[in-house]
Amino acid sequence: MEFNIALLKGDGIGPEIVDSAVRILEKTAAKFGHRFNFTSYLIGGCAIDEVGVPLPEETVKGCLASDSVLLGAVGGYKWDGLPGDIRPEKALLGIRSALGLYTNLRPAKLYPALRSASPLKDEIVSRGFDIVIVRELTGGIYFGDRGYREGKYGQEAFDTEAYSVTEIERIGRVAFETAMKRNKKLCSIDKANVLESSRLWRKTMHALAEEYPEVEYSDMFVDNAAMQLVRDPCQFDVIVTSNMFGDILSDEASQITGSIGMLPSASLGAAKRGMYEPIHGSAPDIAGQDKADPIATILSAAMMLRYSLGLEKEADCIEAAVDKVLDAGWRTADIAGDTGTVPLSCSEMTKKIEEVI
Ligand code: IPM
Ligand code: MG
Repeated sequence: MEFNIALLKGDGIGPEIVDSAVRILEKTAAKFGHRFNFTSYLIGGCAIDEVGVPLPEETVKGCLASDSVLLGAVGGYKWDGLPGDIRPEKALLGIRSALGLYTNLRPAKLYPALRSASPLKDEIVSRGFDIVIVRELTGGIYFGDRGYREGKYGQEAFDTEAYSVTEIERIGRVAFETAMKRNKKLCSIDKANVLESSRLWRKTMHALAEEYPEVEYSDMFVDNAAMQLVRDPCQFDVIVTSNMFGDILSDEASQITGSIGMLPSASLGAAKRGMYEPIHGSAPDIAGQDKADPIATILSAAMMLRYSLGLEKEADCIEAAVDKVLDAGWRTADIAGDTGTVPLSCSEMTKKIEEVI
């Protein structure tokens, strides 16, 4: 089969890790008799430098015309001082919204081979954990009314958290369906003891839960959830939450795996086309040094094959290759820890995985 894939390499280590994933995809295509046509588009800081805006029109058009999108990372110190509207991060929000990607799936699983890299105590991680965070991605405070106004203490800035029943229901459905395919356990995280939008969230989730009697459903306040994630992560299976709580909790969940450089993510909407990207950022401190861990992006490419292109066994093949390379003891610097292993470079790690496919 033939597919058109838009590449948004972005900034920092973005280009290196996307190039690694492309190598893996090429190898997979050759093995299974497919063809991927890759087209690169500008996004983030590099787009600001080249054409003056973080998300050029051409990028949006190119993504909309593709079967799927693979993104590296955006942002860096260089653009940190820019006003909110033309920051690289704005491009990320813009492309999520333009492609209607209201679901963000962020798996955080502990790889047994990397258990010692987790900052949690062994008695906690020895129970293992495998969590999927279903984060709402195109609503809430990220996209609500904002601005400046005169307040009680003079000028103030404000941002608004708003959720409609429609938005809550559609992300809720994805979460319940995800739970049905896994261990049938779902926890919805909100701040319903304080926020009106959370109370509507909770009420809507409860109504949905009636439709999924097989799913063991629970609610949790976000402050407690932040605590429970480090106290006993194995209590969670699927988590569903708002855009901002999902942003925060997914960083926490990825950190406790000890391998943020390995965690992929998928952003999905009503169309088959999705956008796939590593959870980590652009790591400007190691950009261009061939030190980055390419695994999160390679696993994101595997998710793309599974969710957007319907290539299940090809996705399995990539994931199995990553497991095999890790089981054999190969590590990049971020996951080498104090094991005494000489870390592989980004390109060496890519080559190891490529050889196994
Ligand atoms: C993420 C990032 C983005 C977000 C930033 C870069 C806008 O933190 O994907 O989690 O907050 O969504
Ligand atoms: Mg984040």
